[in-house]
Amino acid sequence: MRIDDVKIYEYDAVIVGAGLAGLAAAKELKEAGKKVAVITKLHPLRSHSGAAQGGINAALGEDDSTELHEFDTVKGSDYLGDQDAIELMCSNAPETIRWAERMGAIFSRDDQGKIARRPFGGQSKPRACFAADRTGLTLLQTIYEQAYRAGIEVFDEWYCADILYENGKAKGVAAFNIRNSQPAIFNAKVTMFATGGYGRAFKVNSNAHANTGDALSIFARRGLPLEDMEFVQFHPSGLGGSGILISEAARGEGGRLFNSEGERFMKRYAPNAMELASRDVVSRAIMEEIRQGRGVGPNKDAVYIDLTHLPKETILTKLPELRDLAITFLGQDMLKEPIMIAATAHYSMGGIPVNIRTQVKKSPTELVEGLYAAGECSCVSVHGANRLGANSLLEALFFGRVAGKSMLEDIGNIDLEPATKKDAERMIAEYNWVKTNNGNERVAKLRNELQESMMMDAGVFRTEESLLRQKEKLQELHERYKHIRIDDKSSTYNTDLQEAIELGHMIDYSLFIVEGALARKESRGAHYREDYPQRDDENFLKHTYAKFKDNGKFELDIEYGDVVITKFEPQERKY
Ligand code: FUM
Repeated sequence: MRIDDVKIYEYDAVIVGAGLAGLAAAKELKEAGKKVAVITKLHPLRSHSGAAQGGINAALGEDDSTELHEFDTVKGSDYLGDQDAIELMCSNAPETIRWAERMGAIFSRDDQGKIARRPFGGQSKPRACFAADRTGLTLLQTIYEQAYRAGIEVFDEWYCADILYENGKAKGVAAFNIRNSQPAIFNAKVTMFATGGYGRAFKVNSNAHANTGDALSIFARRGLPLEDMEFVQFHPSGLGGSGILISEAARGEGGRLFNSEGERFMKRYAPNAMELASRDVVSRAIMEEIRQGRGVGPNKDAVYIDLTHLPKETILTKLPELRDLAITFLGQDMLKEPIMIAATAHYSMGGIPVNIRTQVKKSPTELVEGLYAAGECSCVSVHGANRLGANSLLEALFFGRVAGKSMLEDIGNIDLEPATKKDAERMIAEYNWVKTNNGNERVAKLRNELQESMMMDAGVFRTEESLLRQKEKLQELHERYKHIRIDDKSSTYNTDLQEAIELGHMIDYSLFIVEGALARKESRGAHYREDYPQRDDENFLKHTYAKFKDNGKFELDIEYGDVVITKFEPQERKY
């Protein structure tokens, strides 16, 4: 890759990521007449928003209220969620559903012809609106159609490798075309990231291959902080062995969990909510049963979810995709027998810190001009220490639109700061180094070691000892990464090269997960320290902000920021 070949594009707005949040923002801008480019390393319809199965929350029921939705979300977050952001999202949820419906999203219906809702974990009322078990895909297809109709320019199969950021101001990104390695600068007045989560750092996960968290370390390498990265959600029901998502809808529709002794064990962990306790609680219960030797399957590393008592019609109309997945990957038909599941890394509560307008923060109290983020890559923070199921599609759609509106408000006050080919230097250096480096380490091997060790030592259960071991492992992987070698030297669809770049990002942001978890000497939501099993509001009711030390070493500085508490004072969380 050569600097002379760099193309320079100019836009009002450049958005990286074409899932629900990115496309929602792009649509707002385009409809207001702005020139928008969306860059994505996939085709938009392959974005991971499409993998969310069970629903999108909105208090639409007559016996429900947006305030109850807020309370459930705050409680689910183990009181770490920022309540101003939660109130904004929950109070706008009904309108967000109507907006999606008006765009053409076809929701399942109840007996009265209203949008159907199902119960989900940690929620006092059934409020997960759904389209069978393909809710995310339905929403993604709808918004993509509308974005396409509006004429948004999509640069698909382009890899965003760097952000043009200096002195508290962003002016676009550097990216290359995966098809032919064409380098380019996308120079813009406003820049947004909506690149999804970082679950691929763990061996067993429900995430798409693309969820390598690139944006997180791109930001961190430019000296920007990441927030609450230690909070990684493990979804209770990943398909045994692979971790492929078996939606919470399976429990929402009445699925029951059993261990190898035929015991419905949730009665010991959450006697009231049972299988519909919040995800962190159910995941820990499942993994504890497995640790205690009460797992099922050939390796005793799963438990059963049983749906055989449900009417056949319920499974065929409301859970068809789940049934297909279990038949395809396990040879188990949920109509006839229980299927094997175990906790799977699913969602990243932490990410790029943003304020309630989605503008990126460069410290707990300072903002970056012209830079925004929304969806799973961001931390606004509506999920705090643990996200409620079906709040992620809501967050992505709602805060995606907020980002679009915020950029529109700000764009008039921001001049385009011109970019030059030189702004692509860092990207070109990284690309050429990966391509030509001639060491003896293989990317797949390092990635495997990363994922296995993160799963083992920074997963559902953590201790000081396991986290220190993992920190050391990351230091080792960081050193060994300097000696990688790839085989494919071509410039066309070089996935070997792309995966090597992605691995570098995975190692970098994993340090933020581990260091955040080491420093947080308490248990809260998805972060469970066996050596500090209690929540400690006195010392840790605060957000973690971590950034790379500016000494060039693979080390972090950590500071803390306030949690916004408005209506709901922290209480003990019981289900
Ligand atoms: O279980 C599920 O259907 C996943 C939904 C979500 O993570 O919000």
